[in-house]
Amino acid sequence: MNSPIVLPLPGSEVLAGRVAARTGFASGVILVRRFPDGETYVRVEADCTSRDVVLVDTLHLPDDKLLPLAFAADAARDLGARRVVLVAPYLAYMRQDRRFQAGEAVTSRTFARIVSSLVNGLVTLDPHLHRYASLDEIYGVPSRVLHAAPLLADWIREHVDKPVLVGPDEESAQWVADVALRAGVPHVVLRKTRRGDRDVEVSVPDVDRWRDRTPVLVDDIISTARTMIETVGHLRRSGIAPPVCVGVHAVFAGDAYTALQAAGVADIVTTDAIGHASNRIPVDGVLADGLVDLLRGVT
Ligand code: R5P
Repeated sequence: MNSPIVLPLPGSEVLAGRVAARTGFASGVILVRRFPDGETYVRVEADCTSRDVVLVDTLHLPDDKLLPLAFAADAARDLGARRVVLVAPYLAYMRQDRRFQAGEAVTSRTFARIVSSLVNGLVTLDPHLHRYASLDEIYGVPSRVLHAAPLLADWIREHVDKPVLVGPDEESAQWVADVALRAGVPHVVLRKTRRGDRDVEVSVPDVDRWRDRTPVLVDDIISTARTMIETVGHLRRSGIAPPVCVGVHAVFAGDAYTALQAAGVADIVTTDAIGHASNRIPVDGVLADGLVDLLRGVT
C-alpha cells in the first residue's frame, strides 16, 4: 500500500505542506477553479490509488468551501483512495448548536451530517463544543479533537510579563482555567450577554487586584471581535495595562481585525489554524500527531 498523501484545498496550502513535512507523508495538488457560470471545477493532481488521502481544509467561510471539499473527496475515492480523511483545523458551524429562536435551522447538525457523508475521519482543533459534550454527538465518523491550550500557555509564558488571563464568558471558563494552570498564572472569567451578532456586553469584575499584571484575553474564536473589543474597553477604562488578545481561531469577519487593533490592545496573537496576519502560534505539530493517531485507529 502506498503511503498517505496530503492534499490541500484552496487556502490551506501552507498548513498542509507543514503537516506533510511533519508526518513524512507525500503531498499533492488539487486544482480548484470556477467555470464562467460560477460552477466549480476540481481536479485531483495526485495518485490516490490504494492509499489514504488526507484533505486539509480549514473551514472558515465554509459556504464557499463545502462543495469543492465534496467534489475533492468524491474524486479521491473514485480515483482509488482507500480512505479519505479531513484535517479541518477550524470546524465551522459549531456555534448554532440549538434552536435559539423558533424556526431556526440547527446548522451544526446539518453541517456535521454533510461532512460525515464525505469523509472517513476528521481531525480538528478546539471545535466550539458548548452544548455538545463531544463531536460524536453530531459527527458520524471517527474524529480526533486536538487542543491549542498547551501551545497558548507556552506562548503566554514566554512572551508576556506577569500575565493574568481573562476569559470572556462562562463558556470559556474551563478552557481558560486550563491555559492558566499550564502557564502557572492567575485567571478571571467574565460574564457575557450577546444581544445580536455585533452587540455584546461583558461584565468586568474588580480588576484592581490585577493592576500590576498584563491582562491576556483568551478566546477560542475571534469573529466580529466584539467580545474582545467590549472587554478591552472595560479594562482600559479601569486603568489597567493594555491587554494582549490571544485567540485560537482567527476568523476576523469584515473589519474585525482593524477594529480590535484600534481598541487599544498591546498585541493580537492567534494560532495558524486559519491563516491570518496575527498568526504566531503554529499548530502543525498537534495536527500531525492527531492525524497519525486517527489513521492508526480508523479501519
Ligand atoms: C462564543 O461563544 C465564542 O467562544 C467566542 O466568544 C465568540 O465566538 C466570539 O465572537 P465575536 O468575536 O463575534 O464576539
